[in-house]
Amino acid sequence: MLRIGVMAIDGLKAIVVLCAALLCAAAWAQSEPGCLDCHTQGDESTVHQVFKTVHGAINGGGANACTACHGPSEKHDRRGKKQPVDISFGPLWTSDVDTRNASCQGCHDNKAQIHWVGSAHQQENLACSDCHQSHTPQDPVMGDDGAQALCLNCHTQVRAELQLPSRHPISEGKTDCVDCHNPHGSLGEAALNEVTLNDNCFSCHQDKRGPFLWEHPPAAEDCALCHRPHGSVNERLLTARGPALCQQCHAAAFHPSVPYGSEGLPGGSANQNLLGKNCLNCHSQVHGSNHPSGARLTR
Ligand code: HEC
Ligand code: HEC
Ligand code: HEC
Ligand code: HEC
Ligand code: HEC
Ligand code: HEC
Ligand code: HEC
Ligand code: HEC
Ligand code: HEC
Ligand code: HEC
Repeated sequence: MLRIGVMAIDGLKAIVVLCAALLCAAAWAQSEPGCLDCHTQGDESTVHQVFKTVHGAINGGGANACTACHGPSEKHDRRGKKQPVDISFGPLWTSDVDTRNASCQGCHDNKAQIHWVGSAHQQENLACSDCHQSHTPQDPVMGDDGAQALCLNCHTQVRAELQLPSRHPISEGKTDCVDCHNPHGSLGEAALNEVTLNDNCFSCHQDKRGPFLWEHPPAAEDCALCHRPHGSVNERLLTARGPALCQQCHAAAFHPSVPYGSEGLPGGSANQNLLGKNCLNCHSQVHGSNHPSGARLTR
């Protein structure tokens, strides 16, 4: 009796196993293997790292995350044929740049990416994936150091400007490219974060915003009339040094030369104002003055 019972249980087991195998085979016949059947965890590639990023959960996660970026790819690698995915970012196959970008823009065409189309980078055929790494848990470009290194790879002129004697402390890590620029484009010139150049400067240099009782028109108009944004051979990021800076707009003839003549200079006869003196010695409030008698920007 006991023997028979054991045999019956064995038989049952065999049937269960057989059924499972049949079910499996039926399932296999019905549906092709999914992305994760072939691109498995043990894979030497870093493919599965995507599940350690925010994108691991998109479209419900699992293989649906893969197809959200790479497309359904129904023909891809089926039946031994080495067919590409619908949207590939390389290295084996590389879809054209518009196709690759459309994949990302499907979800990122608003917020900071809203001005991508028409931006300098889009027109230069940059791909989102030239800057972003989607299969890396910490996308390097999302950190300030990573972004800067990447930007400077292409922008060698800016790299040179950051070595000049006077410079914004960008290499020093106190400000960064993306504090002023949106790499995805913006409404402002030079892809600046704020629409006007001055508003961009005011976001850190609030004291220069005013309003001033006595404005100096060029400062209110455009800081770049006197300053370079990245670096300069002249101190304080200035476009020119000493009187030359001011004389671009203030021809010497306009200066009241008579009352400020040679009096203060022992034995001299030349105009003190123009004797290689920096105009700032007297006109120190070049950005504007709030002093009741600061009309000449001297206090
Ligand atoms: C039947 C197995 C199999 C399935 C299923 C499969 N792949 Fe692949 N895939 C491969 C193989 C193998 C390669 C390497 C290329 C080759 O040798 O043909 C590859 C390569 C790739 C590449 C690299 C492309 C490149 O340019 O380097 C991507 C991306 C990719 N697969 C995505 C997917 C996605 C997304 C899915 C699900 C829709 C998927 N794969 C399903 C086997 C598969
Ligand atoms: C957020 C979009 C996105 C998602 C989600 C995504 N990928 Fe990718 N995939 C990319 C990009 C972009 C690259 C190019 C390399 C990079 O940027 O990291 C890439 C590269 C690859 C490669 C080539 C890797 C190599 O260097 O050989 C394979 C294979 C691949 N993906 C498969 C998959 C699979 C499988 C999934 C789902 C588990 C998936 N991808 C999910 C965007 C994505
Ligand atoms: C199916 C929608 C979808 C697609 C396709 C997609 N993303 Fe995303 N992405 C998201 C979501 C959701 C988040 C998290 C919320 C957010 O930041 O908007 C995100 C976040 C990001 C972030 C911020 C990551 C972080 O660590 O904070 C970057 C960068 C990004 N995506 C780049 C890309 C790139 C590049 C592609 C194309 C290769 C892409 N995305 C494709 C949905 C998507
Ligand atoms: C020139 C390099 C570059 C290109 C090209 C680029 N990005 Fe970015 N992206 C960045 C940097 C740098 C940041 C980090 C911005 C920050 O820290 O303020 C970022 C941030 C993001 C973020 C997350 C936070 C945010 O500001 O919205 C998303 C999403 C994103 N990028 C998507 C995209 C998509 C989609 C594309 C293609 C249409 C793209 N990026 C093209 C450099 C780039
Ligand atoms: C793959 C090369 C490449 C990378 C990486 C790159 N750029 Fe550019 N960028 C260009 C090219 C090409 C232009 C157009 C020519 C020019 O103005 O120098 C451009 C233009 C610009 C402009 C001028 C925009 C305008 O509207 O006139 C700014 C600002 C800029 N890039 C900032 C950045 C920042 C910030 C980064 C890093 C997040 C970056 N770039 C990364 C290639 C690159
Ligand atoms: C303090 C703000 C600020 C920072 C930080 C900054 N920029 Fe700029 N950048 C500007 C301004 C303002 C302009 C526009 C200059 C003009 O129109 O006179 C500009 C212009 C540019 C241009 C257009 C060409 C040119 O030189 O005029 C590029 C490219 C550029 N910046 C790249 C970068 C890169 C790369 C970084 C990081 C290494 C960076 N910028 C950091 C403010 C900044
Ligand atoms: C993201 C913040 C930020 C923005 C935006 C910014 N700056 Fe600065 N700026 C700084 C920092 C930080 C310093 C260094 C201050 C220090 O070390 O005390 C600085 C210093 C300066 C200096 C003095 C440099 C020197 O040699 O002492 C000038 C001039 C200047 N900025 C002009 C500008 C102009 C013009 C703009 C707009 C195009 C601008 N800044 C936008 C952060 C910023
Ligand atoms: C008419 C020329 C001119 C214009 C326009 C101008 N600056 Fe200046 N800026 C100067 C001069 C000259 C100095 C050096 C003053 C000194 O050394 O005492 C200076 C110094 C600075 C400094 C460093 C010293 C300090 O006062 O903090 C900052 C920051 C600065 N400017 C920001 C700005 C901003 C922001 C704008 C636009 C709103 C602007 N400047 C417009 C001429 C100008
Ligand atoms: C980009 C042109 C420009 C530059 C550069 C410039 N200024 Fe001016 N400045 C003006 C304009 C425009 C006025 C207003 C003139 C008027 O109201 O008649 C003005 C007004 C003045 C005034 C007041 C004059 C008055 O009649 O009330 C003084 C003082 C002055 N600037 C000094 C300087 C000094 C010092 C420098 C150099 C640091 C300088 N400016 C650089 C354009 C400039
Ligand atoms: C020794 C001090 C001193 C120096 C140096 C000096 N200025 Fe003046 N400047 C003055 C004073 C004081 C006034 C006001 C005169 C008045 O109210 O009649 C003035 C007036 C001006 C005015 C207004 C002119 C007008 O017609 O109302 C301008 C513009 C000006 N200076 C520009 C400059 C420039 C540019 C430099 C450098 C090349 C310079 N100043 C150097 C003291 C100086």
